[in-house]
Amino acid sequence: MCGIIARIGRGDAADTLLSGLENLEYRGYDSAGIAVQNGSGVKVHKCSGEVSELKADLPKAPSGNMGIGHTRWSTHGPPTDENAHPHTDTAGDVAVVHNGVIENYEVLKAELQSRGHEFESDTDTEVIPHLIDEYRETAATTEAAVRQAVATLEGSYAIAAIVDGEEAVYAARQGSPLVLGIDADEWYLASDVPAFLDHTDEVIYLEDGDVVVLEPDAYRITDRDGNPVTRSVDTVDWDPEDAGKGEYDHYMRKEIDSQPSALSNTIEGRIEDGEVALEGLPAGTFADVETVQFVACGTSYHAAMYGEQLLKAAGVHAQVIRASEYDSMAGPVDETTLAVAVTQSGETADTLDAIRTASGRGARTLAVTNVVGSTAAREADDAVYIRAGPEVGVAATKTYSSQAVTLALLTQRLAADVSGGATLEDVETMLATLEDLPDHVEEVLEASRAETLAREFLDSRSYFFIGHGLGYSVALEGALKFKEITYEHAEGFASGELKHGPLALVTDETPIFAVFTGHDDGKTKTNAIEAQARGAPVVAVCPDDHPAVEVADAHLSIPETHPVWAGLLANVQLQLVSYHAADLLGRPIDKPRNLAKSVTVE
Ligand code: F6R
Repeated sequence: MCGIIARIGRGDAADTLLSGLENLEYRGYDSAGIAVQNGSGVKVHKCSGEVSELKADLPKAPSGNMGIGHTRWSTHGPPTDENAHPHTDTAGDVAVVHNGVIENYEVLKAELQSRGHEFESDTDTEVIPHLIDEYRETAATTEAAVRQAVATLEGSYAIAAIVDGEEAVYAARQGSPLVLGIDADEWYLASDVPAFLDHTDEVIYLEDGDVVVLEPDAYRITDRDGNPVTRSVDTVDWDPEDAGKGEYDHYMRKEIDSQPSALSNTIEGRIEDGEVALEGLPAGTFADVETVQFVACGTSYHAAMYGEQLLKAAGVHAQVIRASEYDSMAGPVDETTLAVAVTQSGETADTLDAIRTASGRGARTLAVTNVVGSTAAREADDAVYIRAGPEVGVAATKTYSSQAVTLALLTQRLAADVSGGATLEDVETMLATLEDLPDHVEEVLEASRAETLAREFLDSRSYFFIGHGLGYSVALEGALKFKEITYEHAEGFASGELKHGPLALVTDETPIFAVFTGHDDGKTKTNAIEAQARGAPVVAVCPDDHPAVEVADAHLSIPETHPVWAGLLANVQLQLVSYHAADLLGRPIDKPRNLAKSVTVE
């Protein structure tokens, strides 16, 4: 986890580093730090807590035209000032920021200590500046010393380093993301594009093994052995405003509200004459596929359930597997298997591990992701982008909606190629109503009573979410979102499962949010009524004329639409319930405790 940034160019670097770190805080916010260099020593400023605390600690931005920065999600050592990055060598001449895990750091640290190096932190990272410092004594150049240092590391890293008296930033990547940003007279390196999107949209996605040197008027990329490598320059089509909070108090709210435009982007150009047209995946692409395995974590897993259910409806053998369980749950995998990684970030370690395992067993792989140039997009045989724009709030919202829609489209391509059929009998209606989805989401956002209901049920003991079919995946997602940002107990259940145990928990202090999609809703209504008979208030999430409205204690309205999209509209209502409950409880909505958006450790 963690976010790193580096910058070299004209003028002072500190403000750019700090604002870049704010845009990377979704990756972790346990501590923050920067180091700048201006020819009179490397100056390090760091502290536990968020970037705002680091800023408050800095009476005046330190001067220096090059620097590095870090925002941390702790793995080795608690979130203290000492464990905050950047870390330095004993003399403080070399400063390093790092995202990843150095697996052999204990051995390296013991060896370095035996040679007189003094350590100040519990982190794995601190070995890196000491190694660079030591190799500098014998290497011809600092670049060579960096290359030697990274060659001794086992594990994953994206690092950036500055060295006293040198007008350069040194960087390397292996297994952790690193992107180079190219502006007219300055260069950036960062874990992700939003860190420097205010300055440039011209980027190079670096590859594993790349070593980079940034100098004021040039950048050099070489492989592990020092041979020059050429990487293509891409233009990112994200709007810098999408990466900012704008007038909103929270990124999450901004991202919930931006779902109509995100969904319009997701859909644009992908339905032609009533047929699905996904770029790069023409008819016949998946003709050799017999089994589809979706692998994903958390919210992305809930979106992947959409893919699984729609393919099964078309008679295609499909499974959704929690990525972290893939090795024990995958079953037979061969070249007729398509493993689909559903991952908005494209960097989730568990998901990457699952598709690497699948690929190792002969499967073809496909990434469904939001991030162009992400590891999943680059490693998979094919990639489909969900086109939701940058999502900064730790709780996934718009990316869930865009993933589910992308998967619904993808499954049409798959069903046609694999079974020669369509996912649903009324697929034409489904695709026609998809065009209305952005407007329907807008209607939900404009008229939602979620805040009133969040307030009404604020003192509840637990919050239950139930649904059937596609509504079940929405119930799971509603509960995950609720627990993640409110810290209150919430669980999602398949409607029919409530009576097989969980009903023992039901009281008048456990509201039940029941998701009705308009397809086979009987089970959900019956089970909601059974819970209601035990005292639980029932909130029906459904259109106004749905029979559940009559029996429910409260109602969250969604427009009439096709059952496949009804769940997504219900989910928007549930996103708002979670958001308002968390807000009323005073929770740090964008940065829930112990979490980070991009989980790059297993
Ligand atoms: C919850 C959330 C997480 C992610 C999960 C997978 O709001 O965001 O559950 O969905 O960590 O992340 P990606 O999609 O980046 O693989």
